[in-house]
Amino acid sequence: MDAKVQSFFDPATSTVTYVIHGGRGSQCAIVDSVLDYDFRSGHTSTTSADAVIAYVRAEQLSVQWLLETHAHADHLSAAPYLQQQLGGVIAIGEDIRGVQGVFKKIFNLEPEFCLDGSQFGHLFKDGERFRIGELNARVLHVPGHTPADMAYVVEEKHVFVGDTLFMPDVGSARCDFPGGNAHTLYHSTRKLLDMPDDTILYMCHDYPPVAREASWITTVAEQRARNIHLHDGISEDEFVAMRTARDATLAMPNLILPAIQINIRAGHLPPSEDNGTRYLKIPLNAL
Ligand SMILES: [Fe+2]
Repeated sequence: MDAKVQSFFDPATSTVTYVIHGGRGSQCAIVDSVLDYDFRSGHTSTTSADAVIAYVRAEQLSVQWLLETHAHADHLSAAPYLQQQLGGVIAIGEDIRGVQGVFKKIFNLEPEFCLDGSQFGHLFKDGERFRIGELNARVLHVPGHTPADMAYVVEEKHVFVGDTLFMPDVGSARCDFPGGNAHTLYHSTRKLLDMPDDTILYMCHDYPPVAREASWITTVAEQRARNIHLHDGISEDEFVAMRTARDATLAMPNLILPAIQINIRAGHLPPSEDNGTRYLKIPLNAL
């Protein structure tokens, strides 16, 4: 059986959410959902997630999985909201536990905040196989951007790459967040690029040059021929030198502080304080 894939692009955060399913009335997985967040007012809203819900309902899908490729630094996950509306198990790579440890310290989170990944419904191991209804899927550990990044491979044909490769004219994900490593990302991208030429790759983001519209679907062959950071012939040392120099010029993402605090909780908001309000923290001079 082949998978059907529906994409939802969020222009505010340049994130792509995917719904993967086997056809009308089947089970589905939702990958990397977005909870809208206005950092000026501190308000969350669900316009992006509601578009996904409308599609799931129109196609009469039942949600089996709410997959995260990693703890995102650029948007808040809508997984708990989708779970409340539609059901499904929230899952991420098992190395999220290490990421939680790093950021619990940076944010000095409440003592009750557990570092065992138990905020998520399931922690995937590298190579783990799972099903999305009738579809066969497996998990591929692709660290480098963060230590916990996972790619999801569906029917050995559709690969949801997370923050590894970007579109060929954009290149690759940054490696300068805590736990990031450009050498590691190089090896992760080779795992993806060693797949058959016609494998379809689904990007987590697109940051298009001004001359083109956002797009997010490409192939292994296209990446090996044209990726500006990782086409065939680029050595590990060349990649690491380029990536390190480029990362030194990049500002932190707008939403890194709110996003990480919420995404290491599987998208759950922090606990309310005694006045009933939830707060996010801004660590000064710490990141
Ligand atoms: Fe990311």
